Amino acid sequence: MNGRERQRYRANRARWDESVAHHVASPDYDVPGFLRGADPLFPLEVDGMGPVRGRTLLHLQCHFGLDTLAWARRGARVVGLDYSAPAVAAARALAARAGLTARFVRSDVLDAPRRLGERFDLVYTGKGALCWLPDLEPWGEAVARLLRPGGRLFYLEDHPIAEDYEPTGRGGRLVRRHDYFRSAPLRFDETDTYATRGARLRHTVGYCWLHPTSQAVTALAHAGLVIDEFREYPFSYWHRYPAMRRAADGYWHLPREGPPIPLTYSVRAHRPLRGRD
Ligand SMILES: C[S@@+](CC[C@H](N)C(=O)[O-])C[C@H]1O[C@@H](n2cnc3c(N)ncnc32)[C@H](O)[C@@H]1O
Repeated sequence: MNGRERQRYRANRARWDESVAHHVASPDYDVPGFLRGADPLFPLEVDGMGPVRGRTLLHLQCHFGLDTLAWARRGARVVGLDYSAPAVAAARALAARAGLTARFVRSDVLDAPRRLGERFDLVYTGKGALCWLPDLEPWGEAVARLLRPGGRLFYLEDHPIAEDYEPTGRGGRLVRRHDYFRSAPLRFDETDTYATRGARLRHTVGYCWLHPTSQAVTALAHAGLVIDEFREYPFSYWHRYPAMRRAADGYWHLPREGPPIPLTYSVRAHRPLRGRD
C-alpha cells in the first residue's frame, strides 16, 4: 500500500469503527427483531448458499455479526471476520445475547487465510462488502485459499452501476452521473450512513471502489474458482433511492417508469476438487 492508499484505508476503518454502535441501535438492522427470531437473510441468499446445517461457514466482512449469527441459527458452524475492533466486540456481545455459538476474528480480509489457518465448506460475504477493497484480484486469491476443495462461495452485492445514478428533483428521477469504468475510488463526505439517517459521525470522509462486476467474477476465476452462477436483479436489498418502495417480496423496488436498471447481483462459485493449492 502506498501512502495515499494507507490514508484511505485508515479513513474507512475509522468510519466503520464509529458506525458500529449506531448500526447496532439502528431500526434498519433491527437487532431487537433478530433477538425475537426475525431472519435478516434474504431468500436469494438462503437459496444461493444451499444447505448450511453442520457446515463450516466463514463470513468475510461480517460487520457486527447479524448475518453471521443468522447462519448460526440455521445450524452452520460460523466464523465471522472483520477488520473493525468495535464490530468484532459487538458481534461477540450479540452472539452472547442471542445464545448462539460463533467465533469472531479481527483481521483484514486479505490476511484472513494466514490469520485463520483453516479452510471452510462455505464462504459468504457481500451486501456492501466488495466496494471497500481497492483490488479484487488479491480478494479472489484469499477466497480461494479459504475454501476447502469442493467448498462454495456465495454473495449478494450492490450492482456497481447503481452507484452511477443519482436521484434528481422532487420526483427523484434517476440520472446517470458517473463513469462505470472509472478506476479511482469514489470519495464521499457524509455525517450519516445508509443505516444511521440523522446521525452525526465525526469520521465523515470515506472511499469506495465500484469495481465492474466483470472484475469480481474474473478475480474469482483467476484464483481457480469455477463460477456456477452470476445473476443481476432490478431491485435492491436496501432503501437505496428515496423513490423506492419495499414490496411483499422483501426487496426495494423503483417505480415502474423507465427501463429497469440492475441494482443487485449475485455470484455462486466453487473450488474444484482438484486444482491449484
Ligand atoms: C456494510 S458492512 C457489510 C457487512 C454486512 N453485509 C452488514 O451490512 O452487516 C462492511 C464491513 O466491511 C468491513 N471491512 C471493510 N474493509 C475491510 C477489510 N479490508 N477487511 C476486513 N473487513 C473490512 C467493515 O468494517 C464493515 O464492517
